[in-house]
Amino acid sequence: MKSSILETVGSPLVEVDGPDGATVAAKVESFNPGGSAKDRPARWMVEAAEAEGTLTGSETIVEPTSGNTGIGLAMVGAAEGYDVRLIMPSSKSPERRRIVYGYGAEIELVDGDISDARERADELEATGEFVQMRQFENPANPQSHYESTGPEILEQVGDRTVDALVAGIGTGGTITGIGRRLREAFPDVAVVGVEPATNAVLSTGEAGEDGFQGMGPGFVSENLDRSLLDDVLTVELDDAEEECRRLAREEGIFVGQSSGASNLAAKQVAERLAADDDVADPLVVTVYWDSGERYVSTGMFD
Ligand SMILES: Cc1ncc(COP(=O)(O)O)c(C=O)c1O
Repeated sequence: MKSSILETVGSPLVEVDGPDGATVAAKVESFNPGGSAKDRPARWMVEAAEAEGTLTGSETIVEPTSGNTGIGLAMVGAAEGYDVRLIMPSSKSPERRRIVYGYGAEIELVDGDISDARERADELEATGEFVQMRQFENPANPQSHYESTGPEILEQVGDRTVDALVAGIGTGGTITGIGRRLREAFPDVAVVGVEPATNAVLSTGEAGEDGFQGMGPGFVSENLDRSLLDDVLTVELDDAEEECRRLAREEGIFVGQSSGASNLAAKQVAERLAADDDVADPLVVTVYWDSGERYVSTGMFD
Protein backbone atom coordinates (compact mmCIF):
# COMPACT_ATOMS: atom_id res chain seq x y z
CA MET A 1 0.00 0.00 0.00
CA LYS A 2 1.28 3.51 -0.87
CA SER A 3 1.20 6.11 1.90
CA SER A 4 0.31 8.96 -0.51
CA ILE A 5 -1.00 9.38 -4.06
CA LEU A 6 2.31 11.17 -4.80
CA GLU A 7 4.14 7.87 -4.45
CA THR A 8 2.28 6.53 -7.49
CA VAL A 9 4.16 8.84 -9.88
CA GLY A 10 5.51 6.72 -12.75
CA SER A 11 4.54 5.39 -16.17
CA PRO A 12 4.95 2.40 -18.50
CA LEU A 13 7.18 2.38 -21.59
CA VAL A 14 5.13 0.96 -24.46
CA GLU A 15 6.32 -0.20 -27.88
CA VAL A 16 4.40 1.51 -30.69
CA ASP A 17 4.34 1.15 -34.47
CA GLY A 18 7.62 2.19 -36.04
CA PRO A 19 9.37 1.84 -39.38
CA ASP A 20 10.80 -1.54 -40.42
CA GLY A 21 14.14 -2.30 -38.80
CA ALA A 22 13.64 0.03 -35.81
CA THR A 23 11.78 0.07 -32.48
CA VAL A 24 9.85 3.10 -31.22
CA ALA A 25 8.70 3.12 -27.58
CA ALA A 26 6.74 5.78 -25.69
CA LYS A 27 6.59 6.77 -22.02
CA VAL A 28 2.82 6.96 -21.60
CA GLU A 29 2.72 9.71 -19.00
CA SER A 30 -1.07 9.86 -18.67
CA PHE A 31 -0.58 6.97 -16.20
CA ASN A 32 0.70 9.47 -13.59
CA PRO A 33 -1.82 10.24 -10.81
CA GLY A 34 -2.61 13.76 -12.09
CA GLY A 35 -2.67 12.47 -15.68
CA SER A 36 0.52 13.96 -17.18
CA ALA A 37 4.31 14.12 -17.22
CA LYS A 38 4.08 17.35 -15.24
CA ASP A 39 3.18 15.55 -12.00
CA ARG A 40 6.88 14.83 -11.73
CA PRO A 41 8.18 18.45 -11.76
CA ALA A 42 5.17 19.55 -9.66
CA ARG A 43 6.13 17.14 -6.88
CA TRP A 44 9.87 17.82 -7.12
CA MET A 45 9.46 21.64 -7.19
CA VAL A 46 7.21 21.68 -4.10
CA GLU A 47 9.55 19.36 -2.22
CA ALA A 48 12.57 21.48 -3.20
CA ALA A 49 10.81 24.66 -1.98
CA GLU A 50 10.03 22.95 1.32
CA ALA A 51 13.62 21.79 1.69
CA GLU A 52 14.90 25.32 0.95
CA GLY A 53 12.44 26.87 3.41
CA THR A 54 10.66 29.08 0.82
CA LEU A 55 7.43 27.09 1.34
CA THR A 56 6.59 26.77 5.01
CA GLY A 57 2.86 26.02 4.86
CA SER A 58 1.15 29.43 5.09
CA GLU A 59 1.95 30.65 1.56
CA THR A 60 -0.15 30.09 -1.57
CA ILE A 61 1.61 28.39 -4.48
CA VAL A 62 1.22 30.46 -7.67
CA GLU A 63 2.27 29.46 -11.17
CA PRO A 64 1.77 30.64 -14.74
CA THR A 65 0.85 27.51 -16.69
CA SER A 66 -0.86 26.40 -19.86
CA GLY A 67 -2.39 23.50 -18.00
CA ASN A 68 -0.60 20.30 -17.10
CA THR A 69 1.86 21.81 -14.62
CA GLY A 70 -1.14 23.54 -13.05
CA ILE A 71 -3.01 20.27 -12.70
CA GLY A 72 0.11 18.64 -11.23
CA LEU A 73 0.55 21.49 -8.73
CA ALA A 74 -3.16 21.45 -7.85
CA MET A 75 -2.86 17.72 -7.11
CA VAL A 76 0.36 18.07 -5.08
CA GLY A 77 -1.10 21.09 -3.24
CA ALA A 78 -4.22 19.10 -2.33
CA ALA A 79 -2.17 16.11 -1.18
CA GLU A 80 0.25 18.26 0.85
CA GLY A 81 -2.16 20.88 2.21
CA TYR A 82 -1.19 24.00 0.19
CA ASP A 83 -3.50 26.56 -1.44
CA VAL A 84 -2.74 26.89 -5.16
CA ARG A 85 -3.52 29.73 -7.60
CA LEU A 86 -2.84 29.18 -11.29
CA ILE A 87 -2.47 31.92 -13.89
CA MET A 88 -3.59 30.61 -17.27
CA PRO A 89 -3.89 32.08 -20.77
CA SER A 90 -7.63 32.12 -21.56
CA SER A 91 -6.99 30.30 -24.87
CA LYS A 92 -6.20 26.94 -23.22
CA SER A 93 -8.69 24.08 -23.15
CA PRO A 94 -11.57 24.20 -20.63
CA GLU A 95 -10.96 20.57 -19.54
CA ARG A 96 -7.79 21.73 -17.80
CA ARG A 97 -9.62 24.45 -15.89
CA ARG A 98 -12.34 22.08 -14.70
CA ILE A 99 -9.79 19.53 -13.48
CA VAL A 100 -7.90 22.23 -11.56
CA TYR A 101 -11.16 23.37 -9.91
CA GLY A 102 -11.83 19.75 -9.03
CA TYR A 103 -8.59 19.65 -7.03
CA GLY A 104 -9.72 22.80 -5.20
CA ALA A 105 -7.22 25.23 -6.74
CA GLU A 106 -8.04 28.77 -7.92
CA ILE A 107 -7.57 29.99 -11.50
CA GLU A 108 -6.93 33.49 -12.80
CA LEU A 109 -7.30 33.81 -16.57
CA VAL A 110 -5.23 36.38 -18.45
CA ASP A 111 -5.51 37.60 -22.03
CA GLY A 112 -2.48 36.79 -24.14
CA ASP A 113 0.05 34.00 -23.85
CA ILE A 114 2.22 32.35 -21.24
CA SER A 115 4.49 35.44 -21.05
CA ASP A 116 1.51 37.53 -19.90
CA ALA A 117 0.69 34.85 -17.33
CA ARG A 118 4.29 35.00 -16.07
CA GLU A 119 4.07 38.77 -15.56
CA ARG A 120 0.90 38.41 -13.46
CA ALA A 121 2.46 35.65 -11.33
CA ASP A 122 5.46 37.94 -10.67
CA GLU A 123 3.08 40.69 -9.50
CA LEU A 124 1.40 38.33 -7.04
CA GLU A 125 4.70 36.99 -5.74
CA ALA A 126 5.86 40.55 -5.03
CA THR A 127 3.06 40.82 -2.40
CA GLY A 128 4.92 38.24 -0.25
CA GLU A 129 1.88 35.98 0.16
CA PHE A 130 2.61 33.78 -2.83
CA VAL A 131 5.49 31.50 -3.76
CA GLN A 132 6.14 30.78 -7.41
CA MET A 133 7.47 27.43 -8.57
CA ARG A 134 8.98 28.98 -11.75
CA GLN A 135 8.90 25.87 -13.92
CA PHE A 136 10.88 27.59 -16.70
CA GLU A 137 13.89 28.24 -14.43
CA ASN A 138 13.56 25.91 -11.45
CA PRO A 139 16.28 23.20 -11.61
CA ALA A 140 13.93 20.84 -9.73
CA ASN A 141 11.90 20.59 -12.99
CA PRO A 142 14.58 18.85 -15.11
CA GLN A 143 15.86 17.14 -11.97
CA SER A 144 12.49 15.39 -11.54
CA HIS A 145 12.94 13.74 -14.93
CA TYR A 146 16.62 13.04 -14.27
CA GLU A 147 15.69 11.25 -11.04
CA SER A 148 12.43 9.54 -12.07
CA THR A 149 11.62 9.32 -15.80
CA GLY A 150 15.22 8.66 -16.86
CA PRO A 151 15.87 5.80 -14.40
CA GLU A 152 12.44 4.29 -15.21
CA ILE A 153 13.38 4.19 -18.90
CA LEU A 154 16.74 2.57 -18.11
CA GLU A 155 14.99 -0.13 -16.11
CA GLN A 156 12.24 -0.61 -18.71
CA VAL A 157 14.56 -1.08 -21.70
CA GLY A 158 16.44 -3.85 -19.86
CA ASP A 159 19.65 -4.69 -21.68
CA ARG A 160 18.83 -2.66 -24.83
CA THR A 161 20.66 0.51 -25.77
CA VAL A 162 18.59 3.66 -26.33
CA ASP A 163 19.76 5.17 -29.63
CA ALA A 164 17.61 8.30 -29.61
CA LEU A 165 15.35 10.34 -27.35
CA VAL A 166 12.79 12.42 -29.27
CA ALA A 167 10.58 14.81 -27.30
CA GLY A 168 8.64 18.04 -27.58
CA ILE A 169 9.89 21.13 -25.78
CA GLY A 170 7.96 23.48 -23.52
CA THR A 171 9.98 24.36 -20.44
CA GLY A 172 12.58 21.89 -21.70
CA GLY A 173 12.47 20.08 -18.36
CA THR A 174 11.48 16.71 -19.78
CA ILE A 175 14.04 16.51 -22.59
CA THR A 176 16.81 17.99 -20.44
CA GLY A 177 16.25 15.70 -17.43
CA ILE A 178 15.76 12.48 -19.40
CA GLY A 179 18.47 13.48 -21.90
CA ARG A 180 21.06 14.02 -19.16
CA ARG A 181 20.31 10.65 -17.56
CA LEU A 182 20.31 8.73 -20.86
CA ARG A 183 23.57 10.39 -21.99
CA GLU A 184 25.26 9.11 -18.86
CA ALA A 185 24.13 5.56 -19.66
CA PHE A 186 24.46 5.80 -23.47
CA PRO A 187 27.02 8.48 -24.46
CA ASP A 188 26.05 8.19 -28.15
CA VAL A 189 22.29 8.61 -27.68
CA ALA A 190 20.87 11.24 -30.05
CA VAL A 191 18.67 13.83 -28.31
CA VAL A 192 16.17 15.41 -30.70
CA GLY A 193 13.75 18.18 -29.75
CA VAL A 194 10.37 18.84 -31.37
CA GLU A 195 8.69 22.24 -31.74
CA PRO A 196 5.64 23.67 -33.53
CA ALA A 197 6.34 24.45 -37.21
CA THR A 198 4.73 27.88 -36.90
CA ASN A 199 6.48 28.80 -33.64
CA ALA A 200 9.93 27.33 -34.21
CA VAL A 201 12.05 29.52 -31.93
CA LEU A 202 14.84 26.94 -31.62
CA SER A 203 15.03 26.22 -35.35
CA THR A 204 14.61 29.75 -36.68
CA GLY A 205 15.35 32.11 -33.78
CA GLU A 206 11.93 33.70 -34.26
CA ALA A 207 8.74 33.23 -32.29
CA GLY A 208 5.39 32.79 -34.03
CA GLU A 209 1.83 31.71 -33.28
CA ASP A 210 0.72 28.13 -32.77
CA GLY A 211 -2.21 26.12 -31.41
CA PHE A 212 -0.25 23.50 -29.48
CA GLN A 213 -0.95 23.19 -25.76
CA GLY A 214 2.20 22.70 -23.69
CA MET A 215 4.77 22.65 -26.49
CA GLY A 216 6.43 25.74 -28.01
CA PRO A 217 6.42 28.50 -25.37
CA GLY A 218 7.58 31.13 -27.88
CA PHE A 219 10.92 31.72 -26.14
CA VAL A 220 13.96 29.64 -25.19
CA SER A 221 13.38 28.38 -21.66
CA GLU A 222 16.23 28.57 -19.15
CA ASN A 223 15.51 24.96 -18.24
CA LEU A 224 16.34 23.77 -21.75
CA ASP A 225 19.94 22.54 -21.93
CA ARG A 226 20.58 23.20 -25.62
CA SER A 227 24.02 21.60 -25.43
CA LEU A 228 22.28 18.20 -25.20
CA LEU A 229 20.38 18.64 -28.48
CA ASP A 230 21.62 16.99 -31.68
CA ASP A 231 18.69 18.24 -33.73
CA VAL A 232 15.31 19.95 -33.54
CA LEU A 233 12.42 18.90 -35.80
CA THR A 234 9.25 20.85 -36.47
CA VAL A 235 5.70 19.50 -36.77
CA GLU A 236 2.49 21.12 -38.04
CA LEU A 237 -0.50 21.02 -35.65
CA ASP A 238 -2.76 19.39 -38.26
CA ASP A 239 -0.27 16.56 -38.78
CA ALA A 240 0.11 16.07 -35.01
CA GLU A 241 -3.67 15.88 -34.52
CA GLU A 242 -4.01 13.43 -37.41
CA GLU A 243 -1.35 11.29 -35.74
CA CYS A 244 -3.29 11.40 -32.45
CA ARG A 245 -6.41 10.12 -34.26
CA ARG A 246 -4.34 7.37 -35.89
CA LEU A 247 -2.75 6.36 -32.57
CA ALA A 248 -6.22 6.15 -30.98
CA ARG A 249 -7.86 4.21 -33.81
CA GLU A 250 -5.01 1.94 -34.88
CA GLU A 251 -3.03 1.45 -31.68
CA GLY A 252 -5.58 2.10 -28.89
CA ILE A 253 -3.50 4.92 -27.39
CA PHE A 254 -5.45 8.11 -26.66
CA VAL A 255 -3.05 11.07 -26.39
CA GLY A 256 -2.84 14.84 -26.91
CA GLN A 257 -1.29 17.07 -29.58
CA SER A 258 2.32 17.26 -28.36
CA SER A 259 2.39 13.46 -28.05
CA GLY A 260 1.23 13.10 -31.66
CA ALA A 261 3.93 15.57 -32.73
CA SER A 262 6.63 13.76 -30.75
CA ASN A 263 5.57 10.44 -32.25
CA LEU A 264 5.80 11.74 -35.83
CA ALA A 265 9.29 13.07 -35.15
CA ALA A 266 10.30 9.84 -33.36
CA LYS A 267 9.29 7.79 -36.41
CA GLN A 268 11.31 10.13 -38.66
CA VAL A 269 14.41 9.69 -36.48
CA ALA A 270 13.82 5.90 -36.31
CA GLU A 271 13.66 5.76 -40.11
CA ARG A 272 16.96 7.65 -40.40
CA LEU A 273 18.65 5.36 -37.87
CA ALA A 274 17.24 2.21 -39.52
CA ALA A 275 18.87 3.31 -42.79
CA ASP A 276 22.23 3.59 -41.01
CA ASP A 277 24.13 0.28 -41.41
CA ASP A 278 26.14 0.96 -38.24
CA VAL A 279 23.06 0.74 -35.98
CA ALA A 280 21.28 -2.63 -35.69
CA ASP A 281 17.57 -2.47 -34.70
CA PRO A 282 17.76 1.06 -33.27
CA LEU A 283 15.57 1.95 -30.28
CA VAL A 284 13.96 5.39 -30.22
CA VAL A 285 12.24 6.54 -27.03
CA THR A 286 9.62 9.29 -27.07
CA VAL A 287 7.18 10.84 -24.60
CA TYR A 288 3.37 10.99 -24.67
CA TRP A 289 2.63 13.78 -22.20
CA ASP A 290 -1.06 13.45 -21.49
CA SER A 291 -4.34 11.86 -22.49
CA GLY A 292 -6.45 12.87 -25.47
CA GLU A 293 -9.31 13.31 -22.97
CA ARG A 294 -7.78 16.73 -22.18
CA TYR A 295 -8.41 17.80 -25.80
CA VAL A 296 -11.90 16.52 -26.66
CA SER A 297 -13.43 19.99 -26.49
CA THR A 298 -11.09 21.16 -29.26
CA GLY A 299 -12.99 18.83 -31.62
CA MET A 300 -9.81 17.09 -32.72
CA PHE A 301 -11.34 13.64 -32.23
CA ASP A 302 -14.74 14.46 -33.81
C1 LIG B 1 1.00 18.57 -23.21
C2 LIG B 1 2.43 18.95 -23.01
N1 LIG B 1 3.31 18.58 -23.92
C3 LIG B 1 4.62 18.92 -23.82
C4 LIG B 1 5.09 19.65 -22.78
C5 LIG B 1 6.55 20.00 -22.74
O1 LIG B 1 7.24 19.51 -21.62
P1 LIG B 1 8.41 20.34 -20.97
O2 LIG B 1 7.81 21.53 -20.32
O3 LIG B 1 9.02 19.42 -19.96
O4 LIG B 1 9.35 20.72 -22.04
C6 LIG B 1 4.19 20.05 -21.81
C7 LIG B 1 4.61 20.88 -20.70
O5 LIG B 1 3.83 21.43 -19.96
C8 LIG B 1 2.82 19.69 -21.92
O6 LIG B 1 1.92 20.07 -21.01
